[in-house]
Amino acid sequence: MAGRGKHALSFKILGECSTSKARASAVTLPHATVEAPVFMPVGTQGTLKGLVPDQLRELDCKIMLGNTYHLGHRPGPDLLEKAGGLHKFMNWDRALLTDSGGFQMVSLLELAEITEEGVKFKSPHDGSMMLLTPEKSIEIQNAIGADIIMQLDDVVHSSVSGPRLEEAMHRTIRWLDRCIAAHKRPSEQCLFPIVQGGLNAELREKCAKELLKRDVGGYAIGGLSGGEEKSDFWKMVKVSTDLLPKDKPRYLMGVGFAVDLVVCVALGCDMFDCVFPTRTARFGCALVKTGQLNLKSKSFAQDFRPIDGSCLCPTCKTYTRAYLHTLANTEAAACNIITVHNVAYQVPSVGGWWPLCWALLFLSCQTSIVLILLTFYF
Ligand code: GUN
Ligand code: ZN
Repeated sequence: MAGRGKHALSFKILGECSTSKARASAVTLPHATVEAPVFMPVGTQGTLKGLVPDQLRELDCKIMLGNTYHLGHRPGPDLLEKAGGLHKFMNWDRALLTDSGGFQMVSLLELAEITEEGVKFKSPHDGSMMLLTPEKSIEIQNAIGADIIMQLDDVVHSSVSGPRLEEAMHRTIRWLDRCIAAHKRPSEQCLFPIVQGGLNAELREKCAKELLKRDVGGYAIGGLSGGEEKSDFWKMVKVSTDLLPKDKPRYLMGVGFAVDLVVCVALGCDMFDCVFPTRTARFGCALVKTGQLNLKSKSFAQDFRPIDGSCLCPTCKTYTRAYLHTLANTEAAACNIITVHNVAYQVPSVGGWWPLCWALLFLSCQTSIVLILLTFYF
């Protein structure tokens, strides 16, 4: 446990931007030290859709997400415990983070109902009624054994306001206390609380101030990936990061568009996740600095260039757009090959746009100048 502190996590700031809240840091977890800002690719059922763990290692990815809702159903907590946890089961010896499950249920299942006890939902597998409580979510996450686990939160769509939004914020705090009480492995798994409060600055502030009273290893900001206006979204991130302590990591949930990553790094966020790069790859779309290439388009049929000539990923070193165009409509291998590039684009060290982000931030520009430059760039 040496060097990781009592929350199974230690956080060291390596460098700070003088004119924004951006920082470079090292987050030390039981299975890896992760350099942040970091984008964490999302696996649902114990693997990233379209990639095997070895390929993620090759891309120098240090941390990935798993999902409590999916893993809790299959293979289930009993089998995961027997297997010695998800790390062993999937042969991934680096860091893992699991989300608590409620958000996925509410976003995936129309029939989910939230009560003070937990999230009630109709199982999509056998139609029976099930209940995910804060205690159950933590029990499953303890069995999965991820380095970072998330509290169960009451998430409402960002268009919701009024009493329901206020109720969700207060319930999230009550559920946090139930999660903290239920957590059986605090020295091996770091539990993150989640700032909620929708697009209401006052509620966000109240929530953040309540969370600060609890002794935790890091904080997440939730409820902000629902298609709200960018200006509202960025404002809520700022309201949250203004209050969250500088000496703990800040994880912005469900955010993965390049422009949002750069802006939210400047606003002080350290960790991000999103299904976007892997999901879009499955539709045959490759991420590039000017946007996306839809490789199914006929325009690539005779294009013998790589997806991105400056990208160092195995896909760009090996395959042409024309070859991927030929595969994209029929072959599962296309999904794998494009996913490799899209993950490399998002994960800093192999290719992608992060070097640009850092160059801009450390030029000591004013944040507004960075934003103007980015407007031209994207
Ligand atoms: N993923 C994206 N947004 C959220 C959120 O608000 N809560 C949880 N638990 N997961 C998320
Ligand atoms: Zn590439």
